[in-house]
Amino acid sequence: MFVTHLECSACGRQHQWSRLQNLCLTCGKPLFAMVDLAAASQTLKRETLPGREKSLWRYREVLPLPGDVEPVSLGEGGTPLVRAEKFGNDIDLWIKDESINPTQSFKARGMSVSVSMAKHLGATKLAVPSAGNAGGALAAYAARAGLEAHVFMPCDTPQANIIECRELGAHVTLVDGLITDCGAEIARRKVKEGWFDMSTLKEPYRVEGKKTLGYELPEQSDWELPDVILYPTGGGTGLIGMWKAFDEMETLGWIGKKRPRMFAVQATGCAPIVRAFDAGEKNAPKFPNAHTIASGLRVPKAIGDFLILNILRQSNGGAIAVDDKEMIRVTREVGSKEGLFICPEGAACFAALKSLRSAGKIRVGERVVIFNTGSGIKYLDCYQDQ
Ligand SMILES: Cc1ncc(COP(=O)(O)O)c(C=O)c1O
Ligand SMILES: [Zn+2]
Repeated sequence: MFVTHLECSACGRQHQWSRLQNLCLTCGKPLFAMVDLAAASQTLKRETLPGREKSLWRYREVLPLPGDVEPVSLGEGGTPLVRAEKFGNDIDLWIKDESINPTQSFKARGMSVSVSMAKHLGATKLAVPSAGNAGGALAAYAARAGLEAHVFMPCDTPQANIIECRELGAHVTLVDGLITDCGAEIARRKVKEGWFDMSTLKEPYRVEGKKTLGYELPEQSDWELPDVILYPTGGGTGLIGMWKAFDEMETLGWIGKKRPRMFAVQATGCAPIVRAFDAGEKNAPKFPNAHTIASGLRVPKAIGDFLILNILRQSNGGAIAVDDKEMIRVTREVGSKEGLFICPEGAACFAALKSLRSAGKIRVGERVVIFNTGSGIKYLDCYQDQ
C-alpha cells in the first residue's frame, strides 16, 4: 500500500498510519491519509481501470490497507452516472445515483474503507453517531468484519435506519437530541467501553472511501470533470473527499487543472455552512434549533467546516439552503420525470439547481452533477403523509 503517513489538515503535524488514530494530537483537527502517488502510479493506470473489479477497491493503490489484507467489502461504489432526461431543461444534468450502494446510501463507501482499516489496526468495538445512513453502513460492515457496532442516533431518525441497524446486529442507542449530542455521548463513554470512535472526519479513513466519488466521476465522463457539482452537505465528508481526489488525480496525470464549482446544499432549518459562507467566515458556528426532514443534513456543527468553506471559495462555488416542503415536492417531480426515488438530501440539490439556474449562477449548457446520496425508500416516514 502507498499511504505513507497521516497529516493534520490544519497544522500539518504528521502521525503514523499504523496506529488507530482519531484527531490531530496537537490541534484536534481532522487527519488526512497521504499517498505516495508516484509509487501508486506504477501499477494504477487509468487505461487499466476498465479491466478491474467494479467496487471502489478498484482504486486500491490510492486507498489505505496493506496489499495482502482482504478488504471488508459488500460491493460498494461503481454507481451509475445517469443522464437526467427531462429535469435539466437547458443544462446538461447528470445524477450520480448512490442509492444502489450496499445499505442504500453513499455511506457504504466510507465504512468499507474505515472498517477495513479499524479491523486491521486492532479495533474490536466500533461506535458512531449517525443521522441514520452511516449507522446502517457501519452496522453492515462491522457485521461482515465480525466486530461490534454501537450506533447512536437521534430519536427522530427515520424508522428504516433504526430497524436496519438492529437487524444488522448493531447495539442501537436513541438519543433525545441531535447528531452532535450523539457524538458527545460516545466521547464521554468510549474510553471506559473500549470503543473506537468512527465519527466522520474524526478518524482518517471514511474520507478515503468517500474520495472514490471523485475518482469515479471523470472515469465516467471521458476524463472531464463537470462544470458544477451540487452536494448535500452535512459533515461535508464527500465534498472534502472529492476535492482530495481531484488533486490526487491531477498529480497522477489523469486530469488537468480544471475543477468544478462546488456548491454545498443544506436545509433552511440547518444551514451552518450557508450562513458562514455568506458571512465570509472561516469556520461555521453551531446552527441553533437545527431541524429538517433531511436527516443527513441535520448537522448543526461540522468538524470539517473550515475545509468545506475553503473548497467552496477556492472553486468559485457557493452554499445554498432549501426548505423541507420544496424537498418533498421535488422528490415527486424527479421521481415522475426521471424514474428515481431520491432521498430528501438529494432532492435538496435538485431544488437548489432551480434556484441557482434562475439566479444565473449556473449557465445554459453547463454540465452539472447532482449527488443522490441515498434512497427515498429509507424515508417513508417523510413521504407517507404527502
Ligand atoms: C443521504 C445523505 N446525504 C447526505 C449526507 C451528508 O453527508 P456528508 O456528511 O458527507 O456531508 C448524509 C449524512 O448523513 C446522508 O445520509
Ligand atoms: Zn493539527
